[in-house]
Amino acid sequence: MCIKKLLSSDVFKPCNFPEHTYIPRESKFGIEYEQRLNLALNVSGTLISIIGASKMGKTVLCEKVIPFERQVNISGADFSNGEDFWSVIAQKIGLPFEGKTTESKQISNTEQHSKTESFILTKDMVIKHFASNNKVLILDDFHYASNEAQKSISSHLKDAIRRDFRAIIISLPHRSDAPIRNNADLAGRLSLIDIESWKINELEEIATKGFKQLNVKISTQVAQKIAIESLTSPQLMQYICLSICTALNVDNGETKEITSNILEKAYKLTTSNLDYADVVNLISKGPLSKGKSRTMYSTKLGEQMDLYKLVVESLSKNPPLMGLTIDDIKERVSDLIQNDMMKPDRQKIKNTVTQMQKIITDKDDIFKVLEWKDDMIYITDPLFLFYLRWGR
Ligand SMILES: Nc1ncnc2c1ncn2[C@@H]1O[C@H](COP(=O)(O)OP(=O)(O)O)[C@@H](O)[C@H]1O
Ligand SMILES: [Mg+2]
Repeated sequence: MCIKKLLSSDVFKPCNFPEHTYIPRESKFGIEYEQRLNLALNVSGTLISIIGASKMGKTVLCEKVIPFERQVNISGADFSNGEDFWSVIAQKIGLPFEGKTTESKQISNTEQHSKTESFILTKDMVIKHFASNNKVLILDDFHYASNEAQKSISSHLKDAIRRDFRAIIISLPHRSDAPIRNNADLAGRLSLIDIESWKINELEEIATKGFKQLNVKISTQVAQKIAIESLTSPQLMQYICLSICTALNVDNGETKEITSNILEKAYKLTTSNLDYADVVNLISKGPLSKGKSRTMYSTKLGEQMDLYKLVVESLSKNPPLMGLTIDDIKERVSDLIQNDMMKPDRQKIKNTVTQMQKIITDKDDIFKVLEWKDDMIYITDPLFLFYLRWGR
């Protein structure tokens, strides 16, 4: 039998299910996530809530554990305009959710009424279909559903899960878990799975496993360097590995080993498909300064910068960190400034960061790259930090 040679694009899959580079991970209880999800699916009468930051592997986990034919996939976005929960599902699984039926009624011995009644397929039929076909509802990106919809779906589900309806709700932390996790009616009927961000050694495994299948060697040191640069994101790891393959033309079979001299080129190549220029522009400009000119600082980069630019610049410095304290930022900013007498104090840095946070709050999701919490500034989107480091 002829076995098809694996190409780098078969092995590294940043945007869909990574069949050849799937890495099972242990959750905080020392039990693998796959096992926990399996266990949760086996407990009937519970609703499963999977929560984790963007691109940490929530969808991929469900795809790994639940056989394709059992999955019914729906997105929170399907409920952004008050759509009826059960009708959307019915449509998805191909049940007629509305229709006409003719019912004959014997009124008396002589009289018979033919009555056409429209019927609405009740949730009962959907629930029955799920139970008898062993289906699992995967309600992904629940945060896209409107607040109203989230509340109403929670109460629909509360009732359905008692009747063996299997459902998983996937959402981002903080913003969207409240209607499910804080719903008193669901207390004791929830299986909670929190997806943690990826550790360096877990990310390394993606590279090790993938390059092995492409018959290319990679040392632990090089795999570790890429893992650090992947900023807790398995997706970024997959992207970078794929870029390395492109840069070295791995698919032609000449490359035998990945060495660190190609990395920088691969990082830059990876950013060519990322577009955060508008985001960087917005936060480096800061709020409108109403005619008052800002203090400009001479930097070691040879450029004059105001504090907004300096803070953005500081985020991109080594070591790459997804969470920084004000003091971390202050230190990094000071390192960038030429004149020791000019260095801004902690309060100034704090004000700048607060303003930055304000600017992005009412913008589209792509702009929400920073979160200011517990005196720390968190970068919520690894791709954004990666772009800051390599894409400008
Ligand atoms: N367990 C895993 N092993 C290897 N790569 C993974 C794994 N989980 C996620 N990834 C990579 O990250 C990408 C994003 O995962 P995804 O499940 O879509 O994230 P989420 O649903 O949390 O936003 C996947 O397409 C894949 O490239
Ligand atoms: Mg997803």
